[in-house]
Amino acid sequence: GNNNATRRCIRQCNSLEAGVNLPNGMSNGGHHLERSFSIPTDTVNLKRRVGLFSGVALIVGTMIGSGIFVSPREVLERTGSVGMFLVVWLVCGIMSLLGALAYAELGTMNTSSGAEYAYFLDAFGPVPAFLFSWVSTLVLKPSQLAIICLTFAQYSVEAFLSFPAPESAVKLVCLATIALILFINCYSVDLATGVQNMFCSAKLIAIGIVCVGGLYKFASGSSATPDFGFSGTETSPGVLALSFYSGLWAYDGWNNLNYCTEELIDAHKNLPRSIILGIPLVTACYIFINVAYLFVMTPEQVVASDAVAVTFADIIMGNWGGAPYMRFIIPLCVAISTFGAANGTLFVAGRLCFATSREGQFSDILSYITVGRYTPIPALIFHAVIAGCMVVAGNITSLIDFFSFSAWIFYGGAMLAVIVQRFTRPDAHRPYKVPIIIPWVMLIASTYLVIAPIIDEPRWEYLYATMFIVAGLIFYIPFVHYKLTIKFMVPVTIFLQKLFMVAPTDMMEE
Ligand code: ARG
Repeated sequence: GNNNATRRCIRQCNSLEAGVNLPNGMSNGGHHLERSFSIPTDTVNLKRRVGLFSGVALIVGTMIGSGIFVSPREVLERTGSVGMFLVVWLVCGIMSLLGALAYAELGTMNTSSGAEYAYFLDAFGPVPAFLFSWVSTLVLKPSQLAIICLTFAQYSVEAFLSFPAPESAVKLVCLATIALILFINCYSVDLATGVQNMFCSAKLIAIGIVCVGGLYKFASGSSATPDFGFSGTETSPGVLALSFYSGLWAYDGWNNLNYCTEELIDAHKNLPRSIILGIPLVTACYIFINVAYLFVMTPEQVVASDAVAVTFADIIMGNWGGAPYMRFIIPLCVAISTFGAANGTLFVAGRLCFATSREGQFSDILSYITVGRYTPIPALIFHAVIAGCMVVAGNITSLIDFFSFSAWIFYGGAMLAVIVQRFTRPDAHRPYKVPIIIPWVMLIASTYLVIAPIIDEPRWEYLYATMFIVAGLIFYIPFVHYKLTIKFMVPVTIFLQKLFMVAPTDMMEE
């Protein structure tokens, strides 16, 4: 009874505040309420079930996905030397850690789910928050899912069906994978987090296997790469920024736990802890695995290979003569890794969409939760369908560049949110306070990442991406600001509600 009442209050307050231009710091319903009325923080659908281990698994398990098996080629191509290549991987890891530490301040200050969405709402008001969710739900999150699933499909088809993989087969397998991951995430939260934990452990073992392969080669006295120096390093700042794009894609996901803080046990402690444990772990894995690649392959071979890890396996297999299973083990490792990352990506995407529509900024149906299962089915289906369309249409590398450009605009925005709130809300309770130099450094870095490639080589894609962000306003003004409702949405919502057996979060237990 009491709980339900508070929940209803959360919902009402949220919808009251949604779309209304409140002064800074007041626009986030959840946060504001939590402080003033100290509401029990486990709402019906979001139970605090994610502990430190699962928290680390959610970070590590989505960071390690397709990138480390695909991007080394692009990073090497764009950096020009092995020395610079390793420096870029290390710097990317450090940037992810610094970025995540700034997010730790934001996430412990405002523990509502939805990450950037919630922080932008606090720091800049509803419009930037809406634009963030607009781009993320329509483009960023689905394209992440599409890219990761495409990589999964490519490696599984090559390993088990035919080599080289026919495009149609890859796309079919990819669509089937998206469907399977959708099913897992719709079925239950426990299943989704269980899959996440299991695959995270499996992929760490997989990375260990690759590293052992490299060490074996090194120990047998012959490193394929003779020179780990800097000769030939690329000098164009724009191309270097693009090499960072490729590297940072492999590290992306460092902010993923911030999307689910409402589900994290003891978030004030476990969010910073998971970040401090998880991200250096990933950085170490990436440095080791890249060195392992280079022990086995010459830089020319890395650049020429479509799938670094498979070429790696072929060479190792050649060396071991009678070890054809390596031919399957590596693609299997990649498949495990990408499957887990795809699962985590969809999981998180659902939380973001949920948080946005809970505030009344997206169609209500997207915030509804399945009765009895506590999964946000409409939001999950919505993402999966968009990702599916991208798979049918897309080309992976251009998706990654597009992704990075927009993503770093928002990461920069979050750094600005830390800085701005130090002034606008100096007295807010900050369980974790990041040294202020860190968000400044990351703000400069993200500005560079957004601007350098445009100056170096203006491409239409950047303009499209910017136009797309701004186009969100066309929807924001009538539907969110003026709360225009489209008449036919009412029966559609009711129909979908019956079809998926979903209900608004505060009605669950009634
Ligand atoms: N870093 C991952 C990879 O290498 C991609 C993560 C996608 N981003 C995310 N927030 N889920 O495949």
